[in-house]
Amino acid sequence: MHDRDRPVPARHEARPLELSVVVPTFEEAANVAPLVEALDAALKGIAWQVVFVDDDSPDGTAEAAKSLARSDPRVQCLRRVGRRGLAGAVIEGALLSAAPYVAVMDADFQHDEKLLPEMLALLRKGSLDAVIGSRYLPTGSHVVAALAGRRRWGSRLANWLGRKALSVELTDPVSGFFMVRREVIDGVAGKLSPAGFKVLFDLLASQPEPPRCLELSYEFRERRAGVSKLDHGVVAHYLSLLASKLSHDLISPRAVMFGMVGASGVVVHLAVLRAALGLGFEGAQVLAAVAAMTSNYLINNVVTYRDRRKTGWALLTGYLRFCALCGAGLAANLAVAALLQEHFHIWWLSGLGGAAVGAAWNYVTTSLAVW
Ligand code: GDD
Ligand code: MN
Repeated sequence: MHDRDRPVPARHEARPLELSVVVPTFEEAANVAPLVEALDAALKGIAWQVVFVDDDSPDGTAEAAKSLARSDPRVQCLRRVGRRGLAGAVIEGALLSAAPYVAVMDADFQHDEKLLPEMLALLRKGSLDAVIGSRYLPTGSHVVAALAGRRRWGSRLANWLGRKALSVELTDPVSGFFMVRREVIDGVAGKLSPAGFKVLFDLLASQPEPPRCLELSYEFRERRAGVSKLDHGVVAHYLSLLASKLSHDLISPRAVMFGMVGASGVVVHLAVLRAALGLGFEGAQVLAAVAAMTSNYLINNVVTYRDRRKTGWALLTGYLRFCALCGAGLAANLAVAALLQEHFHIWWLSGLGGAAVGAAWNYVTTSLAVW
């Protein structure tokens, strides 16, 4: 018989709440009850609660959590509607907490809940702000990670970038498994980006003082049920988020992603153009444009439009539509490139000019008609 099946003492008789475990969920209905059982087994002797923050999963995750919550006051569930995002879910779950310590973990059993008591014991000592579960440390090892002293860089921009992107010296700065003193989140909650997966990274980089961190190794297990919501586009997504923030939200993350994919297309274009110059300039330019078009399509599909990503058959038909739309762009590309080549005879300038005109056309038309 589990603790949660017994009558739970009224809150005023219980020890004061010490730990909130925030679990963001999207389509994790099958994992909710087993996770509560695992937490119950792992956190004996600790006054804990679990806060599921569900983004209105169609599989009934929130209802699964709430049906547990009805008979177990340690279980809470916030159902968010009209928005999606792991980071935002984590932030809101932490803001709901009144406990001195907040842990964050996945619902899918990839994070080892048996590490939680050790994380808590370390934080209780008072000399740390965050204890982080690392996938990349050798088994059994601990590493105290300082945040590097790159904070005194000259320009504000470099300082910001340094804080945002360079100064975190952790083996797993994007870990989704960590525990912090609640003030660490409370103090900067308004500054954190609600989109994306990199909430720990954002959290640490947003601290006014370098946070004192310690990493613990754990074995990143196989997901128990359901599917991952994280794919390769996530890193690019986060970069575009940073750039968008850097522009004070003037440029949307999607526009930034367009730009980044476009830049990668230019690199592909120039590389292929150079490699294929032996075919004669025009032939090489056609080949380069097709290569860039294909890589742009595939990358945009998984990065820029990851929320509307095409797979299987639709991936192919989308590609055909993409190519058809890009046909006109390619014509403009060729015309401009040929013109430039005729006048200046500088292969890379011609290639670049043609590609730029073609790319602008492609982006506008495909953003309207392909995805
Ligand atoms: N509320 C909410 N909203 N929860 C979400 C969302 C969302 O939009 N997307 C994902 N989640 C939940 C999942 O249900 C899961 O509990 C947790 O967030 C992590 O999502 P996964 O889909 O399991 O991610 P992963 O295992 O592939 O990614 C791992 O590595 C990342 C860093 O590289 C996890 O450990 C992440 O936590 C980590 O950030
Ligand atoms: Mn996972």
